[in-house]
Amino acid sequence: MPPTDPMSPPETVAASIEASQWLDAPAYRVANLVSTTLELAPVTARKVQDALHGTWLGHPLHPALATLPIGTWTLAFGLDTAASLRLNQSTRVAKTADIALQVGAAGAVVAAASGMADWRQIHGRDRRTGLVHAAVNATALGLTLGSLALRRRGRRAPARALSAAGWLALMGGAWLGGHMVYRRGVGTDHADRSPEPREYVPVIAADALKEDRPVRVAVPDPAARAEVGIVLVRHRGRIHAMGSRCSHMGGPLDEGWVQDGGIVCPWHGSRYCLASGRVQNGPSTAPQPRHAVRVRDGVVEIRRQQEPGDEALTLDDMKRAAAAPMPEVPEGARKADEVLFEHHEMMRRLFERIAAMSPDDPERRDMMRVLAGELEIHEHVEDEIFYPAVRAVSEDVPVAHAEHQQLADMLAVTLRLGTSSPEFEAQLQALHQAVDHHASSEEHSMFVEAQRLGDARLRVLGAQIEDMLDEERESRARTAFRNLKTRLLEGL
Ligand code: FES
Ligand SMILES: [Fe+2]
Ligand SMILES: [Fe+2]
Repeated sequence: MPPTDPMSPPETVAASIEASQWLDAPAYRVANLVSTTLELAPVTARKVQDALHGTWLGHPLHPALATLPIGTWTLAFGLDTAASLRLNQSTRVAKTADIALQVGAAGAVVAAASGMADWRQIHGRDRRTGLVHAAVNATALGLTLGSLALRRRGRRAPARALSAAGWLALMGGAWLGGHMVYRRGVGTDHADRSPEPREYVPVIAADALKEDRPVRVAVPDPAARAEVGIVLVRHRGRIHAMGSRCSHMGGPLDEGWVQDGGIVCPWHGSRYCLASGRVQNGPSTAPQPRHAVRVRDGVVEIRRQQEPGDEALTLDDMKRAAAAPMPEVPEGARKADEVLFEHHEMMRRLFERIAAMSPDDPERRDMMRVLAGELEIHEHVEDEIFYPAVRAVSEDVPVAHAEHQQLADMLAVTLRLGTSSPEFEAQLQALHQAVDHHASSEEHSMFVEAQRLGDARLRVLGAQIEDMLDEERESRARTAFRNLKTRLLEGL
């Protein structure tokens, strides 16, 4: 059998916690205790719970509160270490460390309350990790409180050892918290934020919707190769539509019920305002995606209400882009996509030539420098001229920018290698594939969508690009700068 990559030690720890089914019994007991306490509390407890979840904040409050003990206890740890190393033993510094520990302890208590409120509503392996996370952080708090007690009695040396141990435990707890959020997605938005449908689409006969009875419909999202679920509710004469997957943990809102003008998730009881999608009750903290609704000939049609900052393009956006005033088209100008395609082809040929050269050919290095220069010029003209213009009609620009960054990083690695080394061959091939992928996706998608700008506008852009290409190649200062950069990347 081929050897398998062993897991790293942190991964092994996380995996073994997640697989520890024996943690379920204590977890349920603790969760029941927390729930009973909250249920016995006065009605206002719901408001307190929502405040602890961060419903008012738009995302969970717990991570923000957790920064209090992390920051202050780290400060105290630093000051204590400086004192232990006799770098600074003033009483002012010692006092500051004590205050930092006290402030952090108060923050840790509030962070724990907010964490517990969130934790009792998560399931399965995340609940197990959450329990260990809480136990480790409770240990950190216990050690810190012990340290504060010793400090009051003037026993500084053991007090510092205790709070240092508390700080270490806190770091372990923070790592587990990070695992839950970044690896497992606990506390992140689970709603489907697809921009589809961008234009009104018919989804159901209006008379199929009964008062306060949620119904799920689905529309395709071709880019994601998935379907988007949307829940429709007729309420007091109006039809409302929002994403059917609950932003809290993905519960099915269409299986929920209507209460006080909101739809309630059957999983943990988050309630979303039917009219706005906003959270009326937690544990959810993120609003639901919203859809505009209209009825045409007895059929309900819906359209996604795009979110601010969203890159999604609609027909209106494209009409606006095509209607923008246009400068005069220079005579004989070629279209931007033609100019860029020609440059892509030139770079492809350069790759082929370098790959075909003998590893010991001294000209290989020179050809690499030519390629580096052309690649840089190409990215520059696209970033400066083409992408800003095409953004109005194509959603590919953000990814294209990211790919440029990745190509620059890969080029830097390639330039550093000796052109006769086997590593160079492998790296050159990888760079070639990356450039080819990027250029091909521009040619097959972005350049096609760019046609929406219209022939004349593309010719104006093409003329600008050709001017800039000439300028970049002819300018002595620019060429010297590019050469210097290449030499620096090569390691002089
Ligand atoms: S999934 Fe938790 S409230 Fe909806
Ligand atoms: Fe590009
Ligand atoms: Fe390109």
